[in-house]
Amino acid sequence: MSEHDRPDDVRDDGTPSDPLARVATLRSEAEAAIGSASGSAELEQLRVRFLGRRAELPQLLRGVRDLPAQQRGAVGKAANQARQALEALIETRAAELRASELDVRLAADVIDVTLPGDPALPPGRLHLITATRREIEDIFLGLGFSVAEGPEVELVYYNFDALNHDPQHPARQPSDTFYVTDPDALLEPDSQLLRVHTSPMQVRAMELQPPPLYIVVPGRVFRPDNDATHTPQFNQVEGLAVDEDITLADLKGTLLSFARAMFGPDRDVRLRPHFFPFTEPSVEVDVSCFNCSGGHMPDGSRCPVCKGSTWIEILGSGMVDPNVFEYVREHGYDPEKVQGFAFGMGIERIAMLKHGVPDLRLIYDNDVRMLEQFG
Ligand code: PHE
Repeated sequence: MSEHDRPDDVRDDGTPSDPLARVATLRSEAEAAIGSASGSAELEQLRVRFLGRRAELPQLLRGVRDLPAQQRGAVGKAANQARQALEALIETRAAELRASELDVRLAADVIDVTLPGDPALPPGRLHLITATRREIEDIFLGLGFSVAEGPEVELVYYNFDALNHDPQHPARQPSDTFYVTDPDALLEPDSQLLRVHTSPMQVRAMELQPPPLYIVVPGRVFRPDNDATHTPQFNQVEGLAVDEDITLADLKGTLLSFARAMFGPDRDVRLRPHFFPFTEPSVEVDVSCFNCSGGHMPDGSRCPVCKGSTWIEILGSGMVDPNVFEYVREHGYDPEKVQGFAFGMGIERIAMLKHGVPDLRLIYDNDVRMLEQFG
């Protein structure tokens, strides 16, 4: 300590002339300084200045034993109390400062998570498959159908048996169907598989509700195929109408309305004979090509959409086989009284046709250049 900042009541050797008064002075000086400390860093400096190892008060305490006996008790006590009081004061003040510094930091660092990103991200879009599924649903809702959904893990009973599949039907083979339970038990009605089509919901829906029934059933289906035109998972929309006096003409009229809503008002449809185990008669349905006239492009080349045939296959369909109604007879489906038609279409196929998507795999690659074009 230099000559000129030495307090008046301190002797040349650094010891106070009146230790008791000096303790009181130090204490009130420290209290004032601590009380007005404006930050944690300043407070820490004050702690070192007043209570640090080389600070005056602790030194004074250490020197108590050298004091005259009659001073020792009073000075020791006062100095101890001063030290404890200052420690407590510093602790309280430190907590206050920490809290207010946190408030300041929180106010300054505030992140507004509702602000748009920088640069702002464009809003997302519906995937082409979702957009197309909704478009198909909307068309059939407009025709008086309701939308139902069913399980993707299905029983052999609903996927094959109740849809009139012969025990020998090749689609039952593990090479054509993903089995969830033991494929050796593939003829057990309660064996489980990933449904190969949405048709199982025909039977489930009839079990749940008596006729008249008009439903469409969108959903994922699964088959062990994987090449340029097949993916192991794809999407279908099933349709089922059951009522009295339903005929093939109702089927054709309904699908004509659908084709026109989906592909344009000038479309026509044609039915070609086909086979499905659960419809009789069965037909494949073609829509007249919307990309060309007469199978040719204006430059005379062959139309790439209909391959020059002027017709495009869009779905499989038919009149509900009475054998299927037998499985739900007790739910109100007497094959002598009700008739129905059913159809199933692939959503990917409809989307690719409508939007000219050249390769099925583009739908699943998730390339933004593709995704940004739809929805
Ligand atoms: N389930 C058939 C398929 O996946 C399509 C279909 C549905 C055919 C309804 C007729 C009736 O190929």
